[in-house]
Amino acid sequence: MKDLMRQRVGVQENIMSLLNKQIKMEAQASATYLAMAAWCEQNSFDNSAAFFYAQSNEERDHMLKIFHYVSEVGGVAVSPEISAPKSEYGSLREVFETTLEHEIAVTESIHQIVGACRKANDYAAENFLQWFVKEQVEEELTVKRILDYFEMLGEEPMALLMIDERVAKVSANGAY
Ligand code: FEO
Repeated sequence: MKDLMRQRVGVQENIMSLLNKQIKMEAQASATYLAMAAWCEQNSFDNSAAFFYAQSNEERDHMLKIFHYVSEVGGVAVSPEISAPKSEYGSLREVFETTLEHEIAVTESIHQIVGACRKANDYAAENFLQWFVKEQVEEELTVKRILDYFEMLGEEPMALLMIDERVAKVSANGAY
């Protein structure tokens, strides 16, 4: 009966710590994509700017999703300190290449936490993270698709214009 009265599921210290690290990573990604949106706008890549504004919001949503989860299971969610994001880029291609690097790092981090959850028998957290596992597959795929356009079309001004138009289509198709 006593056990039935418990109100919180509880979360192990190491899992909470990993989830807080992920909160920070998502917050850093949100700030990075916002800086990329600004760069794209300054360089007249309007569709890419819209893409990164939307992506910045998505990353903040990801951060909040984990933040709420940590709180719900009785942990302490920490509002993260983040560093100033890179705001200068040499080309649109570099912006998307950097995005892919970020997303791959996020995927690896999520997979590591899933592994830790398995070891700790934290099935609730593992189940919670499955949404992120799937989301990362989609996010990486979208950015890889955009990078393919650079391979196909090159980086002459007209090609960049076409790529920027394709970015609008890729994001409208719901990968983000
Ligand atoms: Fe939430 Fe794209 O990492």
